[in-house]
This record gives sequence, C-alpha cells and structure tokens, in this order.
Amino acid sequence: MTDAKASQITAEPPAFPMSRRCPFEPPEQYAELRKEQPIARVTLPTGQLAWLVTRYEYVRELLMDPRMSSNRDHKGTPVMFPIPERTRRVFDVYGKSLIGLDPPEHTRRRKMLTSEFTLQRVRSMRPRIQQIVDECIDGLLAGSRPVDLVQALSLPVPSRVICELLGVPYADREFFQGCTAMMVSRATAPSDRHRASEQLRKYLDELVTAKEKAPGDDLFGRLIARNEQERVFTHETLIGLAFLLLMGGYETTASMISLSVAWLLEHPQQLEVIRADPTATNAALEELLRYFSVFDIMPRVALADIEIGGCVIRAGEGVVLGFGAANRDDEVFENPDVMNLRRGDRNHVALGYGVHQCLGQNLARAELEIVLNTLFARIPDLRLTVPVSELSFKKDAGIYGINEIPVSW
Ligand code: HEM
Repeated sequence: MTDAKASQITAEPPAFPMSRRCPFEPPEQYAELRKEQPIARVTLPTGQLAWLVTRYEYVRELLMDPRMSSNRDHKGTPVMFPIPERTRRVFDVYGKSLIGLDPPEHTRRRKMLTSEFTLQRVRSMRPRIQQIVDECIDGLLAGSRPVDLVQALSLPVPSRVICELLGVPYADREFFQGCTAMMVSRATAPSDRHRASEQLRKYLDELVTAKEKAPGDDLFGRLIARNEQERVFTHETLIGLAFLLLMGGYETTASMISLSVAWLLEHPQQLEVIRADPTATNAALEELLRYFSVFDIMPRVALADIEIGGCVIRAGEGVVLGFGAANRDDEVFENPDVMNLRRGDRNHVALGYGVHQCLGQNLARAELEIVLNTLFARIPDLRLTVPVSELSFKKDAGIYGINEIPVSW
C-alpha cells in the first residue's frame, strides 16, 4: 500500500450510510470518494468498519472475484443494523437459501430456478402481467382522486405477479408486506423486527408444508415437485427461498415503478420520449434502473487478502459494494448524473453482476415496461398533486423507494 493510501485509511472513517441531499440522487460524497478514495474505510451504524467501493471498475472486479463471499456467516460481513442472535437465526433461513451462499452450493441451487426466469418463460407471462396492470389501472380510474399510486399500482402489480408464481394468496399481502417492511427497515425496534421475522417464517413454513403435500402448477410448486427428485433444497431452505422470491419479487420492482413514475411526471419532456414511442421504453428502463439503483449497496466479505486499487482488503474484512455509486461513474457513463432515456446502456450494475446477478431481471424488466407503457397511454394527463420535494422517500430502508405518491388526472 502507498504511504498516501495508508494515511488516508488511518483517518477517522466516515459514517455510512451517507444521506442524500436530493431524493433522486445518490449521496453526494460518493462522487468525491470515487475520485479520491474509491475503496475507502467507513463506519457502519453497528460500529463495524468496512470497505466502501465506489468505482465501477472495482465493484465489477470484486463481484467476479471468487475470493469474495456472500455468506453472511463470516464475522466480517457488513451489517447495517444490529441483529440479536435469536433474530439472526430467522434471518439466516432466507440468507442461506440462495443469495447468501457461494459456489458450488449456490450454483446447484440457482440451477434449479433458472428455467423459471428465462426470457422465453417471462414472455409467456406477459399477457397475465398486462391483465394485472390493466385491472389495477381500471381500479385506479374508478376510484376517487387524488389516489396513492404506490397502493394503487406500484405495489399491487409486482405483488400479484409474485403471489401467483409462488402460490401465495394475494389476500395475505398486508400481512407479508408489513412483516418484510419491518424486517428490512433500519428504523425498526429489535423486538418488532424479531416478531415480524418469526411471524413471516411461520407463515412461509405453512406455505411450503402445504406445497410439499400438493405442489400445484405454479413456479414454486414445480420447483418443489422437482426438488422431490433432486433433493437440492431442504424444507428449511425452501422457506428461505420463498421469502427471498417474495420480497425480491415485489419490493424492488415496486420501488422502481414508484421512482420512475414520480420522476417522469416531474420531467414531462423526458416522459414524451416513451410516450411518443413505446418501443423506446426498453432502453429507457435500463437508464431508470441505472439512475435510481434501488439497491444502493450490497455486502460481501473477503475470504483472502485481495489487492485492488492500491489497497489491500484483508481476509475476513467486510466490503460494501456501492452499486449506486458505480452506476454514476463518469469513467463508464457519459454525463452519469444526467438521466438520458435514450442512452440504452445495459452495463449498469443495478441488477448486480456475476454469479448473484438478479435472477428475476427478465421479469422485473417486463413488469416495468408494461406498467410504464400502459399507465401513460391510458392516463395521458396523470399528474402529481404535490411537488416531489413533499414526497416521503424510504430513507431507512435497504431498498430505496417512495412511501406514497398522490396523483390525479
Ligand atoms: C427492478 C427490480 C429488481 C432489482 C433492482 C433487483 C436487484 C437485484 C440485485 C442487485 C441482485 C444481486 C444481489 C447480490 O449481488 O448479492 C439481485 C438478486 C436477486 N434477485 Fe433481484 N432485483 C429486482 C427484481 C427481482 C424480481 C422480480 C425477482 C424475483 C421474482 C428477483 C429475485 C432475485 C433473486 C432470487 C436474487 C438472488 C440471486 C442469487 O443469489 O443468485 N429480483 N436482485
């Protein structure tokens, strides 16, 4: 390590996460760090030290490095809020189902799922997604104004889609959405987090047990039937997987719908790009994904000493990969802070990269495209009833988003 680097890391590491000044922009410190100290020591809310990586090149390199682990069992794994031991046992159930595993176990499990999320499979889901979107918009148009777009569209579309794929009754949405919101918010009291995680675990345990008896012809049922032969998942890891798919399936996509619609309504000229030509929406949504990066960060831990960018990340040290920061790297994206809906660059890391790259990305893209094209075609005069500055953004959540969007037309 150079002397300069050594002196930088002995200075008091700044607190992380850093706050945003503008709700659609990442924290402004990212740009300075990316330039001056693209791999920097930071202090997490738990008091733990970790490396924050803000340069695109390094984020991608580390995502491909087999010496980096996603396994949350390692002591150095960055933790954003304290999780008492008894709650950790419940969190582990879903962490260890897929996303918190490394190859070769991760590869074996992921292979069981890939055929359910191919482009072809998602194409076959499109008519049903369109129907769900149309029904939500019918409901919205029939109701009183102003209406909260989050409850009327952003949440129900991906929730209904994932409920159907998993065979979860949509009527239970308030219950599971309430539980997951409590589990992932940094503002939740530890006892509430524990209760929510236990309740959801129990609920999903019952779901998996029922499906083991009668799998049914939905995604999860097919997986369980196949698993009977291949024995890749245990009952416990199926519970974890149900949780991962349920939460991964709606919270992220709902946030993307909310942020995209709010931003487009604030920028009518940009909205015209997709309204004038719905085939432009595919490229536009890549830019929306890059720009908002609802998963701002992702934790990893080093399994061996890794020399990168003039620093040495020691074995056992935690690393926070800055997806949001990488997606604004001007070495890779021209004018990265400008939303350019015609950019058409799919090289962002908003959906991850490497072995854990988002399994549901084809589905997420299809949902976003259908929602944006249908919404603005069916309600051309849709508008926000309050300025963006008055919207409440999810500052404390692991997945960035908006709590409520009052709209009228
Ligand atoms: C716009 C919406 C979405 C965004 C921004 C998003 C983002 C991501 C990211 C960044 C990762 C990588 C995590 C890592 O590197 O550790 C990931 C993984 C994953 N996503 Fe998504 N996701 C979205 C939608 C979905 C949907 C709709 C589903 C499922 C129905 C889904 C299921 C998953 C799963 C299962 C993984 C773990 C993959 C693995 O560990 O191999 N996601 N997602």
